[in-house]
Amino acid sequence: MKYLIDPMDLTTQEVRGILQLAHEIMEDPKKYAHKCEGKKLATLFFEPSTRTRLSFEAAMLELGGSVIGFSSADSSSAAKGENVADTVRVVQCYADIIVMRHPKEGSAKAAAMNLEIPFINAGDGGHQHPTQTLTDLLSIESIKGRLDHLSIGLCGDLMFGRTVHSLIRAMMRYQDIKFTLISPEELHLPNYLLKEMKQNGVPYVETRQLEGAIDNLDILYMTRVQKERFFNEADYLRLRDSCILDSKKLSSARPDMIILHPLPRVNEIPNEIDKDPRACYFKQVLYGKYVRMALILTMLGESEC
Ligand code: CP
Repeated sequence: MKYLIDPMDLTTQEVRGILQLAHEIMEDPKKYAHKCEGKKLATLFFEPSTRTRLSFEAAMLELGGSVIGFSSADSSSAAKGENVADTVRVVQCYADIIVMRHPKEGSAKAAAMNLEIPFINAGDGGHQHPTQTLTDLLSIESIKGRLDHLSIGLCGDLMFGRTVHSLIRAMMRYQDIKFTLISPEELHLPNYLLKEMKQNGVPYVETRQLEGAIDNLDILYMTRVQKERFFNEADYLRLRDSCILDSKKLSSARPDMIILHPLPRVNEIPNEIDKDPRACYFKQVLYGKYVRMALILTMLGESEC
């Protein structure tokens, strides 16, 4: 596998292989502790990150490899006007695999063209975030025990939320998946994704409020309203409180529903919800490290024991 830009770059068979390997790593991490000795991962982050960058770095270190990179555009030559294609072309002289996050949609594709080493999109603007999706799939499979026959509520900023876009694409390929799309009108899911769901015969309903929508879900996937994607602060302030999960709303959800969130959160899940057994978003973070270990091994061709 040469690059991962969109979840659809992986076949369902390849996804199965990565999830299976992640389960094996979770069971016996020591077995994988030297698999990447002598290999270097470059993390090129032109946009802020806590989980994605640090989980990739922790993943590579736990595989015995090493890490180079930068965590902001300001500390790279992008600040002098270098384009991403030139940056990654240079970095491939120093590393064996590249992970890149960038605020512009399409930047990952532009960067990956003509590269000789594996490349992973760690989020390109409001477009896609395929490794968060692998994290979500591993979380769902580990906690719910299946990836099919699921009713999934997606709540918050569905317009700019790249984690939502990638998760929908990935989940559409499993059997008997239903989506409930919960957002204010201004932040509804982009039309191209609604069209893809229709073309694939995947049922969905759109609603503006969590009340009433939450009752029969297997999974509630919360997202924050992303300030950095708005052109105007007044619009952000008007919309930021439109989808908040509180104890009263949660009281009508099923006892076996799980709450996921790619994080960071702002105010859409108050801290009081964290102690509810259905809140799985901090467990989800840990699954992210293991699935990225599996992805690195797979992309470097080191997945065989
Ligand atoms: N979920 C996620 O992408 O988090 P970060 O922005 O902290 O990487």
